[in-house]
Amino acid sequence: MADTLTVTDNRTGKQYELPIKDGTIRATDLRQIKTADDDGGLATYDPAFMNTAACRSRITYIDGEKGVLEYRGYPIEQLAEQSTYLETAYLILFGELPTSEQLADWTKQITLHTMLHENIKKLMEGFQYDAHPMGVFVSTVGAFSTFYRDAKQIFDDHSRQKQIHRLIAKVPTIAAYAFRHSIGRPYVYPDNELSFTGNFLNMLFRMTELKYQVNPVLERALEVLFILHADHEQNCSTSAMRGIGSSHVDPYSAMAGAAAALYGPLHGGANEAVLRMLKEIGTVDNIPGFIKRVKAGEGRLMGFGHRVYKSYDPRAKIIKRTADAVFEVTGRNPLLDIALELERIALQDEYFVSRRLYPNVDFYSGLIYQAMGFPVTMFPVLFAIPRTAGWIAQWEEMLLDPEQKIARPKQVYVGHGRRDYVPLSNRS
Ligand code: SDX
Repeated sequence: MADTLTVTDNRTGKQYELPIKDGTIRATDLRQIKTADDDGGLATYDPAFMNTAACRSRITYIDGEKGVLEYRGYPIEQLAEQSTYLETAYLILFGELPTSEQLADWTKQITLHTMLHENIKKLMEGFQYDAHPMGVFVSTVGAFSTFYRDAKQIFDDHSRQKQIHRLIAKVPTIAAYAFRHSIGRPYVYPDNELSFTGNFLNMLFRMTELKYQVNPVLERALEVLFILHADHEQNCSTSAMRGIGSSHVDPYSAMAGAAAALYGPLHGGANEAVLRMLKEIGTVDNIPGFIKRVKAGEGRLMGFGHRVYKSYDPRAKIIKRTADAVFEVTGRNPLLDIALELERIALQDEYFVSRRLYPNVDFYSGLIYQAMGFPVTMFPVLFAIPRTAGWIAQWEEMLLDPEQKIARPKQVYVGHGRRDYVPLSNRS
C-alpha cells in the first residue's frame, strides 16, 4: 500500500494522488484541485487550528490519549524527579542533557545575567501599585527590545545566545520586582550565591535579613513546577511566539506577544482563574450547585480540559504530589478539599467524562503558589518564567527551519460583494 491519498473531485470527476508524510498531507498539494484554470484551487479551513500541523519540531512530544509528555525524548516524570529547571531548560534549548562542564558554564552565564538595567527598574516603578503583574511582565519584556538593540541580529548565533541568557536569567527578576512593587516593598537584588529558584525566592521574600535563608522544600517545589511548565509544543502562546517571530522581529518583542497570549484565562491565566473559582465555590457543600451551573453552560470548570490531553494531564499528577510536600512546610491550603472533591465529582460525571475533561496543569498549581504566599495575580507570571525556555527554543527552531517563512494564513471571505461608495449625504 502506498503512502498516498487518492482524492476524487466530484465536481469534475478528476482524481488526485496526494503524498502522505508523518500522518499529514501538504495543504498546498490541494491547490491543484480546481474546477477551472482561474480557480485558485482548494485550501483547508481549520478555525483555531483544531487539526493542522504548522511546523516540524524536535523539542516536545505529547500523546494526548496516553497522557505522555517528553522533552527531547525524556519523560517529564523522570525530569521532574531527577533534573533541575536550568538543566531542563538547557535540554529544551540545545537538545541534549548537559555534561557537568556544560551545566556549570550554562549556570554561570545565567547567574551573570540576573540583574536588570536600572532604567528597567524605573520603568516598572511607573506602574500603578495594583497593576496586574502579568501586565507588568508583558510590558517589561517588550521594553527589553529597546535596551538590547543587538537582539535584532537574529541570524547571528552569538547574539541569539546572548539574548537567550538574558531572557532565561532576567524573567525571575522581572517577576520578583513586579511582585515587590505590588506590595510596596523595596526591590531585592539577585544573590548570585543561590540557585536559580533559591534566588527567585530571595528576590521575592527577603526582608531585612542580610542573607535570605532558602527553604529547600519550597526551592525544590519551584524546580519541579518550573520543569513541568517549561514547554508544551504548539500551545497558544508558543504559536504566538512562532507567528510573531516569523516576521523576523527581535525575540523580546516576540516574547512579549507570547506572554500576552499566555495571560488569557483559557491558557496560562487559568491557574489564577482556578483559585478565583475555588474561592467563589467557598465550601464543599456548594460544589453540586456549581457543577450544575457549569453543565448548564453558565461558565467553565477552570483547570479542567485540554485541547490535546484527553486523559489526565501528566503534569497535574506530579503537581498534586508536589502539593503534599509544600503543605508540610506551609500548612495545608483549605481550598485543597474543594479541589479534591470537585475532581472526584467531575471524574465520574457524564458531562465531563463524555467530553474527556480531566484536570490539567493549572488545576492544582495555584494551590501550591497560594500556600507559598503568592497572590493569585502572580500565578500566570509563575507560568511565564519557565515557559520562557520553551518559547525561545521554539522561536529559534522556527527561525532555523528552512521550511518556515512569514506566517500568513488564508481566509474564507464571507463579506459583502463589490459595491460603490455612498456619499454621506445619501446615507440613511
Ligand atoms: C493550558 O495547549 C496547551 O498545551 C496549553 C497548556 C500549556 O502547557 O501550554 O497545557 C496550558 O493552557 C492548559 C489549559 C488551561 N485552561 C483551562 O483550564 C480553562 C478551562 N478549559 C477550557 O476552556 C478548555 O478545556 C480548553 C481551552 C483548555 C480547551 O478547549 P478546546 O479544546 O477548544 O475545547 P472546547 O472549548 O471546544 O470544549 C469542548 C467541549 C465544549 O462543550 P460542547 O460545546 O461540546 O458542549 O468541552 C466543554 C466545552 O464547553 N469544555 C468545558 C471545559 N473545557 C471544555 N466545559 C466545562 N469546563 C471546562 N473546563
